[in-house]
Amino acid sequence: MKVLICETHEAAINRTAELIETQVRSRPRTVLGLATGGTMEPLYRRLSELHRASLSFAGVVTFNLDEYVGLSPDHPASYHSYMQERLFDHIDIDPQNAHLPRGDAADPRAEADAYDRRIEEAGGIDLQLLGIGRNGHIGFNEPTSSLNSRTRIKTLTRSTREANRPYFDAGTEPPAYAITMGVGTILDAKHCLLLATGASKAPAVAAMVEGPLSAACPASALQLHRKATVVLDQAAAAELR
Ligand code: F6R
Repeated sequence: MKVLICETHEAAINRTAELIETQVRSRPRTVLGLATGGTMEPLYRRLSELHRASLSFAGVVTFNLDEYVGLSPDHPASYHSYMQERLFDHIDIDPQNAHLPRGDAADPRAEADAYDRRIEEAGGIDLQLLGIGRNGHIGFNEPTSSLNSRTRIKTLTRSTREANRPYFDAGTEPPAYAITMGVGTILDAKHCLLLATGASKAPAVAAMVEGPLSAACPASALQLHRKATVVLDQAAAAELR
């Protein structure tokens, strides 16, 4: 695992964007795995700027990590809407090439199985972008997730639902379930690139990088990956020894 500690939050965002830019320029038909959440918002703004300055995503294929079960793509708090508003509306990606699990599928389990097949048919993920939850989750693989798991339905922990509450209207309960790529699905990517910023992530980052390999911290599975890059700002790196 390669750990890059950047001086500032902005530097961590720019470094992550550069790594994605290098990948897309060297292989315009890259298959990118994408994440959502607050950490990714400035990164997607930076990628949109790079697009305006010449970086094309026209040949890129994307697969997002997860989507809430029960939300249709046009629900304002769905990850479809998040991606559309924060990235896809600002770059030249072909909408046919941008994939997210359908949270409103009649059979969410079948949708999860089909999602893994779609990733395989696309040739697998070249670069998987990841954030990390305060409890060490990656995607929505909450603690105790099997390190070998595939795309499936997961029950979200109370802490994750609380962390996601700001995206939902007051009085609306965040969904209890999500379709998420499994830890095993994530580890199949040729390169995993995890971005973590801010002091609230410092304990989870320390557990991921220096803790035992354990389902108690699903992100620690990245210790097994032959090409995992972790980009941190100083605050997120503060608990590393
Ligand atoms: C969402 C996802 C999650 C987030 C994590 C951190 O697609 O993959 O694992 O990356 O919950 O979220 P933020 O960035 O909001 O702290």
